[in-house]
Amino acid sequence: MTWEITGDSERIFHHSPNQSCTIRQNNSALIGETHGPQEFIQRENNRAALSRTLPQMSFSRSRNERQCAHNKIEMSKRILITGGAGFIGSHVADELLESGYTVRVFDSLAPQVHGPERNRPTYLNSEVELLLGDVRDERALSKALEGVDAVYHFAAMVGVGQSMYEIAQYTSVNNSGTAVLLQQLIKKPVERLVVASSMSVYGEGLYQTDEGEIVDGSERGLEQLRKHAWELTSREGKDLQPIATPETKTPSLASVYALSKYDQERMSLLIGRAYKMPTVALRFFNVYGPHQALSNPYTGVLAIFASQLLNNNAPSIFEDGLQRRDFVSVHDVAHACTLALEVPEAADEVFNIGSGENFTVREVARRMGAAVNKQIEPEITGKYRVGDIRHCFSDITKARKILGYEPIVSFDEGLEELVNWLEGEVAVDKVTQAKAELAARGL
Ligand SMILES: NC(=O)c1ccc[n+]([C@@H]2O[C@H](COP(=O)([O-])OP(=O)(O)OC[C@H]3O[C@@H](n4cnc5c(N)ncnc54)[C@H](O)[C@@H]3O)[C@@H](O)[C@H]2O)c1
Repeated sequence: MTWEITGDSERIFHHSPNQSCTIRQNNSALIGETHGPQEFIQRENNRAALSRTLPQMSFSRSRNERQCAHNKIEMSKRILITGGAGFIGSHVADELLESGYTVRVFDSLAPQVHGPERNRPTYLNSEVELLLGDVRDERALSKALEGVDAVYHFAAMVGVGQSMYEIAQYTSVNNSGTAVLLQQLIKKPVERLVVASSMSVYGEGLYQTDEGEIVDGSERGLEQLRKHAWELTSREGKDLQPIATPETKTPSLASVYALSKYDQERMSLLIGRAYKMPTVALRFFNVYGPHQALSNPYTGVLAIFASQLLNNNAPSIFEDGLQRRDFVSVHDVAHACTLALEVPEAADEVFNIGSGENFTVREVARRMGAAVNKQIEPEITGKYRVGDIRHCFSDITKARKILGYEPIVSFDEGLEELVNWLEGEVAVDKVTQAKAELAARGL
């Protein structure tokens, strides 16, 4: 079957188990084709892992739609993803393979993420070449860089709370690991380096007064948190409303993790410019989706809530639960990563990668409860964590304009997909233990 549409790019949803679509651009018109079972199986071979974990539904942009992006890096080139056995990296690997790249992953299979056995994750695409190694190991990294055309640097310890007491470990893996990688890249330069930064570098998001005056750099002190006065006010005591945060907001580093992400980002851009190696930093917001490490209490709040609910525990919420966050599907993030590789104008730039939407944490807990079919009321603890921010959500205007990034997975669709995936997963609720570790340190 062939069909034709005009106008903007089209969303592609594979709801049917035996049909898919491709889109071709023909002058201003887009030509679409629906493929039957045989062709579908061949085209979807690269997505074997994803299909296994997503029996009900998957979100995808056709390969041809992706090719409408700027193909600066030729297909069939070899791309290295450090930390590529993790959550985001594994999805980026799927996208790259589908676009015709060859993918190598360099990953230590950290036990906190992959369990004590440190096995190759079953979700990792079988076409990925996996090299086991630590990003701080010069020799192993140098080998991994052989014959590589571009690098995604995702290897990191990922946890705001944990970074406040595992300071040496976070600084070693995140900061020094990046330094070792960059030093190796000076010897073996690549056509593009894409580094994973984080919304955490902003600290608090951007605010404005009721009169519309922009306030950049407002924060809550410990005294304020002790009084449970959760919302921010200006120095003059005026109420502040959160607004979408653009890349121009002054960073405010409230945790060792945030400090390390900013260091990774700045160091990469600085060395990239000095050695004329095009480098892109992506500030991811709260990423969620299949392959998320559910047993790791330091990752996303959605995984934490899901883990608590599946173990029949109430999702525990800090403060009053009215803090706002930006949850972005890992599929949209993976697509942004491909764009960061391929769009020439992205070089030397920093981009927010979020959904452009925001929800309160309380709302998120309730929606997750409904999605997993558990009528368990969230526990609003009134507790707080040092370094936690009140509101932060993305302004994605720059990514839209320069990368051509457009998130396509709505929160409800993404949550449904996450829950479908969760049904096949065993989630061990380690949140209680993690909270105890923070509390023992007065954090
Ligand atoms: N998940 C999010 O919401 C989010 C938000 C902002 C930024 N980020 C950043 O995105 C990147 C990927 O995050 P993720 O959510 O996929 O995390 P993840 O923990 O699932 O993946 C990280 C991977 O890095 C590996 N790793 C850890 N230490 C390593 C080392 N010393 N050497 C080699 N590999 C090592 C782990 O084994 C893991 O596979 C990270 O840099 C993270 O800081 C993630």
